[in-house]
Amino acid sequence: MAAIPEQTLINGYKIPCVGLGTWMSKPGQTSIGEAVKTAIKLGYRHFDCALIYENEQEIGKAIKECIDNGVVKREDLFITSKLWNTYHSKARVPEGCKESLASLGMDYVDLYLIHWPFPMRENAGLLPVAPDGKADVIDIDYTETWTAMQDLVDQGLCRSIGVSNFNSKQIQKIMDLGLKYPITCNEIEISPHNSNEKLLQFCKSKGIAVIAYSPLGSAERPWAKPDDPVLLEEPDILKMAARYNKSAGQVVLRWGIQRGYIVIPKSVSESRQKQNIELFDFALDEDEMNAINRVNRNFRVCTWADFDATHSPYYPFHEEF
Ligand SMILES: NC(=O)c1ccc[n+]([C@@H]2O[C@H](COP(=O)([O-])OP(=O)(O)OC[C@H]3O[C@@H](n4cnc5c(N)ncnc54)[C@H](OP(=O)(O)O)[C@@H]3O)[C@@H](O)[C@H]2O)c1
Repeated sequence: MAAIPEQTLINGYKIPCVGLGTWMSKPGQTSIGEAVKTAIKLGYRHFDCALIYENEQEIGKAIKECIDNGVVKREDLFITSKLWNTYHSKARVPEGCKESLASLGMDYVDLYLIHWPFPMRENAGLLPVAPDGKADVIDIDYTETWTAMQDLVDQGLCRSIGVSNFNSKQIQKIMDLGLKYPITCNEIEISPHNSNEKLLQFCKSKGIAVIAYSPLGSAERPWAKPDDPVLLEEPDILKMAARYNKSAGQVVLRWGIQRGYIVIPKSVSESRQKQNIELFDFALDEDEMNAINRVNRNFRVCTWADFDATHSPYYPFHEEF
């Protein structure tokens, strides 16, 4: 089994170009713990976790079992976790990080991200609701949160820090603070339906690695509407898949790899996990890359439109990029 290629982050640490997404394994499906053990066996080393997924304990247990059985060493893994929106104040940032570490049973994570730029009311559950029924957003500037994130590196709780769902202006505002530790990554939604080209190029120009979430279009998201476009049924993508004897998912992930970022598809199925790392024995030519680029419709799957947080002054998607 060939190792998954890596990218080098701006601080010198290496990150595997394909990781396993861990959000939402449905009841009745293979459990996320079993999925993680299978993935490690297949060669995955990068796992994208978060406090809000409420499954870090199960993932940590599965990883510990693999380490204890000699299947993998901790230092060969790249574990990401994320600070949830209800932990943005200076005092709460270390609490959020330590809660994730305790659940994972680890003394550090490789990468710790601010999950979203907007904060929500603290100590009122993970999804606090305001009297108007919308998300209970509060006012803590993400520069305060970033400063506290840097302290986590000093304390050895994480090796690299970064952001997720930040737009270019928000990134620039943090950079203008004068950084003690660099913004190593921005984890953002990218798929052929939402190619996010301008933000991708902005991040690259600043040396920030991009991690693409929902890279396959997140077909299982609970808020999908019947007339939403279905990425893996796009005719051009299906044609390319047939040409290379690959699946539509593999073509879409390969398109991402060739655009120069890291992809974190979620799968609890062994056969699809296997497909999602078999991306390095074929290449799309320029015409094929362009054909996939044309599928773009700026269609986001994660918008906070249903549990409405669009009124936060820190909501990232009012800007073009
Ligand atoms: N930072 C953020 O704000 C943020 C937001 C959303 C997601 N994420 C992260 O990104 C990860 C991935 O995103 P996602 O879970 O939204 O969606 P995704 O990876 O785009 O899609 C996952 C869906 O595709 C299916 N699938 C997996 N491989 C496939 C293949 N080769 N062919 C066809 N179908 C395939 C999976 O089903 P099976 O499991 O049955 O294979 C699942 O239904 C998440 O798990 C999470 O770790 C981060």
